[in-house]
Order: sequence, then C-alpha cells, then structure tokens
Amino acid sequence: MGQALLRTAAEFADVTITGAVASAHSTRLGRDAGEPAGVRLGVAVSADLPAALGAADVVIDFSHPQAAAEHLAACRAAGKPLLIGTTGFAPQLVEAELEAASRDIALLVAPNTSLGVTLLTELVRIAARALPPQFDIEILERHHRMKLDAPSGTALALARSAAEGRNLPAGQATATVGASRAGPRRQGEIGFAVLRGGDVVGEHEVWFAGAGERLSLTHQAADRAIFARGALRAALWLAHQPAGRYTMRDILFKNQ
Ligand SMILES: NC(=O)c1ccc[n+]([C@@H]2O[C@H](COP(=O)([O-])OP(=O)(O)OC[C@H]3O[C@@H](n4cnc5c(N)ncnc54)[C@H](OP(=O)(O)O)[C@@H]3O)[C@@H](O)[C@H]2O)c1
Repeated sequence: MGQALLRTAAEFADVTITGAVASAHSTRLGRDAGEPAGVRLGVAVSADLPAALGAADVVIDFSHPQAAAEHLAACRAAGKPLLIGTTGFAPQLVEAELEAASRDIALLVAPNTSLGVTLLTELVRIAARALPPQFDIEILERHHRMKLDAPSGTALALARSAAEGRNLPAGQATATVGASRAGPRRQGEIGFAVLRGGDVVGEHEVWFAGAGERLSLTHQAADRAIFARGALRAALWLAHQPAGRYTMRDILFKNQ
C-alpha cells in the first residue's frame, strides 16, 4: 500500500510526500521513496516516524497492527492528524486508545479506504434496516494468499453496518467462518465466509437471503490504487479537521 500511495500521490496536485516510513528491518531504508514508482521524490525511506513527522500536515498509516499502535502514539504526541488504514489491530490497539487519541488529534480509522466500499457500507445499513429479519445476512470475502487477518476488516465493518441497520448489538456479528459452522442457521446471526488465494486484491459480497428471493450487494477491487486514492482524498480532508473521530462516511457525504 505504501508503494500504491506513492504512485497515486502524483494524481493529486495538492499532495506533497514529506516522509516515508518503513520498519527498522526494511531493505529500502535510506533509498528514495519514489523508486518503486520510477520517480525521484527527494525523500529517503526511514524507520524514524517522530523525525519524519516534522514537515507533515497529515499522516497515512498502512503498516502492521503493532506498528499502527506506535504510529498512533507518535502522531498524538506530535499533534498530527492520522488516517489508519491498517487492519486486524485489535487487541493491540483498543477502542479506548483510539478514543483517547481522538481528543487530541483528528483521527480517521478506515478498514477500507475505497469510496465504493464506503458506499457499499451505507447500502448494507439501508438494506438491513429495510428488509425483515427473516432475510439471513451472510458476508463473503475473497483476498490474496498473503492476507494476515480473517475475516477482513472490511467484512467486519460490513457486519457492523448490517447489525446497526437491524438495531442488533455489534457482538451479534459473530465470526462464523466457513466449515466451522455446523447445524441449522440461527436467525439474526450474521455469518462470514472467507476465501484466500492468488493475488485477489479484495472482493466483498453481502448476501440477504429471504424465502424465494436473494439480494446481493458486491464490491470488487481490481487495483490497490483505489485504496490509495481514497486514502489520499480522505487525508487531504482530514488535514483541515479539528481533533475528533472521523470515518470514510464523512469523506463521501461531508466532502461534497
Ligand atoms: N484500509 C484499506 O483500504 C486497506 C487496503 C489494503 C490493505 N490494508 C491493510 O493495510 C495494512 C498493510 O497492507 P500491505 O498490503 O501494504 O502490507 P505489506 O505489503 O506487508 O506492507 C506493510 C508495510 O508496513 C511496514 N511496516 C511493518 N512494520 C513496521 C513498523 N514497525 N514500522 C513502520 N513500518 C512498518 C512495512 O515495512 P517493510 O518495508 O520493513 O516491510 C511495509 O512497508 C494491512 O493491515 C492491510 O490489511 C488496508
């Protein structure tokens, strides 16, 4: 995602990359951050986030769950707005920490920064509210073989949205995954199916199955650039917001 961001940043006239941070073990430390995109940015890849923060108006994190927690603390200390795109960070990065940080900085946590998925999340909420509870809700997601977390952060967010639409407690969105499910389906349960393989960028389908009819809402990501584009657009907006907690929904509906 870091490379996708650097490539896509060139599409935004008002974005300047002021720092690029990788792990202390990265093979790219000291090299120009633009290299993978074939451009020279004059910004060396570093492992020192606090130092890299100096010239930044806003920070975008797509890293690793543990690193995201460290990046949150560094941005809070430096008073820099932060967009976290990293997924799978519970329990290292708990809700209480995010809430506390959002009292000091503008914070946007987005398990999916695609504008299409952001809209899908809203459509799922509307469908779940409108359709009677006899419609079973299942969420199917497919990702590349290297993905660490399952179900995906996006699948969990879609489940939260469906649960909100039905006024169910968030815990109702239980992670019932694939073959681990046995016996008849419990009404009200929101189930997950997870497929991993190849280089699939990310596909999510929310399935409302009633008696005699089925509705399916689907998003397919064909290129990682969609996440980068959405993250950059969101970061440009976030840079001008006061301390608080924001979501991609704000980008879609308040940024028009
Ligand atoms: N929100 C969204 O829309 C969205 C979209 C795609 C992916 N994601 C999530 O974003 C995260 C990253 O995905 P990816 O595919 O880009 O993973 P990746 O290819 O494994 O890249 C992870 C990056 O994080 C860096 N990193 C790891 N530990 C670090 C640390 N302690 N400090 C600083 N940097 C560190 C790595 O640096 P090195 O160079 O040292 O390896 C690498 O550049 C995952 O959680 C993924 O699920 C979210």
